[in-house]
Amino acid sequence: MYSSQLCSIIAVIQNLLLAAAQDVPGQPIENDWAPEPFTDFTKNILFYREADAVNWHTLYARTLQLPNESLLITWENYPAEPPLVNHPIWKSDDGGATWYNYSQIEDQVNGWGLRFQPFLYTLPIDFGGYPAGTILAAGVSCPFSLEGGVWIELYASTDLAKTWTFVSHVAYGVGPETIANGDKALWEPFIVLYNNQIVIFYSDQTDPAHSQKLVHKTTDNLVTWSDAAPDVAFARQADRPGMTTVAHIESTDKWIMTFEYCGVGGCRVHYKVADSPLLFDAAEATELHTNDTSLTTGTSGPYVIWTAHPDRDDGSGLIIISASNREWVFVGEDDADPEGWKRVETNHWSAYSRSLRVVMIKGKKKLLYANGGNFGPGYLNSVACAVQPIPR
Ligand SMILES: *[C@@H]1O[C@H](CO)[C@@H](O)[C@H](O)[C@H]1NC(C)=O
Ligand SMILES: *[C@@H]1O[C@H](CO)[C@@H](O)[C@H](O)[C@H]1NC(C)=O
Ligand SMILES: *[C@@H]1O[C@H](CO)[C@@H](O)[C@H](O)[C@H]1NC(C)=O
Repeated sequence: MYSSQLCSIIAVIQNLLLAAAQDVPGQPIENDWAPEPFTDFTKNILFYREADAVNWHTLYARTLQLPNESLLITWENYPAEPPLVNHPIWKSDDGGATWYNYSQIEDQVNGWGLRFQPFLYTLPIDFGGYPAGTILAAGVSCPFSLEGGVWIELYASTDLAKTWTFVSHVAYGVGPETIANGDKALWEPFIVLYNNQIVIFYSDQTDPAHSQKLVHKTTDNLVTWSDAAPDVAFARQADRPGMTTVAHIESTDKWIMTFEYCGVGGCRVHYKVADSPLLFDAAEATELHTNDTSLTTGTSGPYVIWTAHPDRDDGSGLIIISASNREWVFVGEDDADPEGWKRVETNHWSAYSRSLRVVMIKGKKKLLYANGGNFGPGYLNSVACAVQPIPR
């Protein structure tokens, strides 16, 4: 049965994470304070898992900023079903200090729910009949049983995330939606605009030659999608690269992708740099490690961003990478030099696939961290955020 199989897989993952997680303190189940509006803070819990929640209760938080500086957050949410799970949208109008339930992205086509890995993206240009400013939301839809099929879905909102409409199916697997080698599952969509195409990256278990590989599809109309093209696929069938995130290094016009390399790579974070986000397949994979004498690596669930350097005016910037088992972040220069990643403390909890976003708070550039908890016992999980100066 799926649940016992999934439990044993989860146990394996937990052991992997625990083994690698020497510096992951437990996240407290509750806190009783809220930061002052529009200030810097860490460890701000904004949503407590529901009392009847199942699985991981909450996981995998993703954010977005609206044009007037309000913030949005979504996450995997696991209340008992029915009703079907959806991707909640909560909003903050005070710089992330307090948040309220704003809307939710519901499955409008499959009758399965929106279950895994939400991702939010603002269209910077008119595209596919949608005006600039439209918010796109990708996510994974599959049944509660995890059997019977899985879609990566695209939804859109033209009213700043208040209401959502189904746009298209991006990719299909027959399932079951588990991480067992051979199950035809899909995970973790990530959206980028490149060269007048929307690109969706995701993890793909549908090719029997690879337990899992990383691929992308492109569209010029949000409705019809290209075939999947590989970004990372290792020769060893059992190897599992996973969890693509991508950033544009504006100063060099290059692109960086991070991923976890499970299998022989022990889920340690790796990255590739290429001239185009469509050309990662041919690029060399590099293992990420700090440039102090410890050569410390990071494990699982990476998230990469690039931002112009807050203290320079020459156009150069910083690449910032978070890993699931580290509270601190890796910060590197625009050349992504393998020996140039310094460890910078955040004073914020780690989380499974903690996300990073550069935001403007009262006109000042800050880094918003979003946590959905860890991939362990769900009762420890809640949704939390931090707003901090750009680490450097
Ligand atoms: C953004 O606009 C909304 C709606 O007018 C408002 O409620 C909210 O406070 C604004 N956000 C900020 C950060 O001013
Ligand atoms: C948000 O509010 C709606 C409508 O009241 C409710 O159905 C939903 O469960 C709430 N979402 C969360 C995550 O609490
Ligand atoms: C580590 O890399 C940073 C650049 O990201 C550099 O400033 C620093 O000097 C390097 N540290 C060591 C010990 O090489």
